[in-house]
Order: sequence, then C-alpha cells, then structure tokens
Amino acid sequence: MLPQGNFPPKVFINGEIRSSEDAQISVFDRGFLFGDGIYEVMMQLENGIFYKQAHLDRLQDNLNKIHIAFYVEEIEHHLEALLKSAGLTEKSCLIYMQVTRGIAARKHAYPKEATASVMIYALPYELPRINPKQMTAILEPDVRWHRCDIKSVSLLGNIMANEAAMNAGANEAALVRDGYLTEGSHTNILFVKDGKVITHPANEHILNGVTRMIVIQLCLELGIPVVEKPVAQSEIEQMDEAFFTGTTTQVAAIAQLGKHVYFEDNQVGAVTRQLQEAFALLREKNTSELTFQTYMNQQTI
Ligand code: PDD
Repeated sequence: MLPQGNFPPKVFINGEIRSSEDAQISVFDRGFLFGDGIYEVMMQLENGIFYKQAHLDRLQDNLNKIHIAFYVEEIEHHLEALLKSAGLTEKSCLIYMQVTRGIAARKHAYPKEATASVMIYALPYELPRINPKQMTAILEPDVRWHRCDIKSVSLLGNIMANEAAMNAGANEAALVRDGYLTEGSHTNILFVKDGKVITHPANEHILNGVTRMIVIQLCLELGIPVVEKPVAQSEIEQMDEAFFTGTTTQVAAIAQLGKHVYFEDNQVGAVTRQLQEAFALLREKNTSELTFQTYMNQQTI
C-alpha cells in the first residue's frame, strides 16, 4: 500500500507500464543500495516538452560520466507510451526519469554484467505563466560532495538543506561553500548587480540547470551582460536583485536571502521581471530556438 500523496497515475519500470501501487524494483538495485543512478526532470507543456533535447542530452551526459551503459534514445519511445497510457499526451505534466546501474550483488565497484534499470513517470502539473512567489531563502552550508554537476539520485545534502528551509518557513535554501554561494537545494541562483547578471560558473560545484542556461541565453539576446563568477556571502547585500531558476521554479524572484531583504511588498527587480517575461514568452513559443553549449564539463569519474 502506498501512503497518502500525489503519486502518478502510471509508472514505466523496466519495460512495463504499471500503476504506482504495482511499480516495484529489486532491493538489490544499485539505485536503492548505493544511490547509483542519474535522474532528470522536465516539463511537458500543452505545446510539447520544454527543452526536451537539452534534458535528454544532460541525462546521457551524466550517464556517460558514471559509465552507465544506457542510451537515452530508448527512452523516447517508452515516454510516449507512458504518456498515452496515463492519459497525459499533450497535457501539462512533470516528467521524472531515472536510470540506475541495475541489479547486482552488493559490491562497491561497478558490476560488469548489470543491466540498467529505467523508471519514468508523469504527474499532472500546471505551471503559472510567471512564478508569482517572492521567495525567501535561508543560507545553509553546502555539505555536498564535489561532483554536484552530476544529477545523481543521491540527494542527501540537498534534501537536508531543503528540510532546514521548510522548518524555517522559507521557500528555499541557498548553499554556501567556502564563503561563496553555489546554488539552491533544487535550483540555481543568479544575482543582478549594476544591470549585469552574475552566477556561479558551471563547474563541479553546481548542477548546470537547463533553466539557468536558457536564462543566460535570454540575457545575451536581451543585451544583459552575464558574468559567471561565484558571489561571496559577504557580497549578498551589495547585489541589487537575486532570483532562482529551475524546471518547476522557472524564474523566481528572491525577496529575502539570509538576513538581507531585497524587496518588500511584492516588488520584483526590473531585470528579474524582464527575464520572467522573456522566459514566459519562450515557453509560449516552445520552439527550443535558443541553443547553447549544453555541456562544458565532460569529466568522468
Ligand atoms: N532540480 N540545481 C539543483 C541542485 C537541482 O536539483 C536543479 C533541478 C537545478 C535546476 O536545474 P534545471 O533548470 O535543469 O531544472 C539546479 C530538479 C527540478 C529536481 O530535483 O526536482
């Protein structure tokens, strides 16, 4: 029996489409034992999956980084069948995909013979045109490992930070490593100073968000200069605006970060507002016409 919660109508699991209730996996799956797997989240809008190829490319790139032999082309066909079976074809929904190294007797090193386990589900999900939230965020130490570029299913550091935010009555936790802001618990963080957008470089200390990349590209199109450098905790107060980006967060204005209040009374900074509007228009067109250098970090471990 599943507990109460917003479970999806159907789950694709290793070649079969099942109800959430019946979707099961071996306790010896390495995703369960070691968190040895990669996941991806993307949104289907009424006009198609938003930046589908960028998400699938990132999934493939991450699988390559940890040497899971799986080719994401296989997913496309299963995804279509799943959406159909869940009655979600052309409907707004969140798509979650996870690929683990598969089932093997417990040993740390990668097993030679394991077959990847693949799970996909889609959950009805409506996004507002522009995220109306004025986010408040606490600051939390970034206790995660040094390969945050890998979208690993092991998210302990992220969920601990998010839990701290929820307990503090905030919307998000912004993570601080060695005195510098890296990203949010499930978002990227960007700042605005003197008309420029400043954000952490896409290295191994952040996940290079698809939304982050789209926003950088929108900035370039709008003539807003972008600087990829880490912002120090001590510089928070000197910034003019700040916002989070993410697949479900979209572009969300930050009202308060730590103790510093950027905006009160539902005000949103001019650059944040401009980017929210440009992002909403891009979603309405949903052509993926903005292209970007998707992966800078091809490092493997
Ligand atoms: N989170 N940073 C982290 C740590 C994330 O988990 C995410 C996404 C992002 C933003 O990436 P994107 O713009 O590609 O969604 C940045 C997903 C949505 C999640 O875990 O649910």
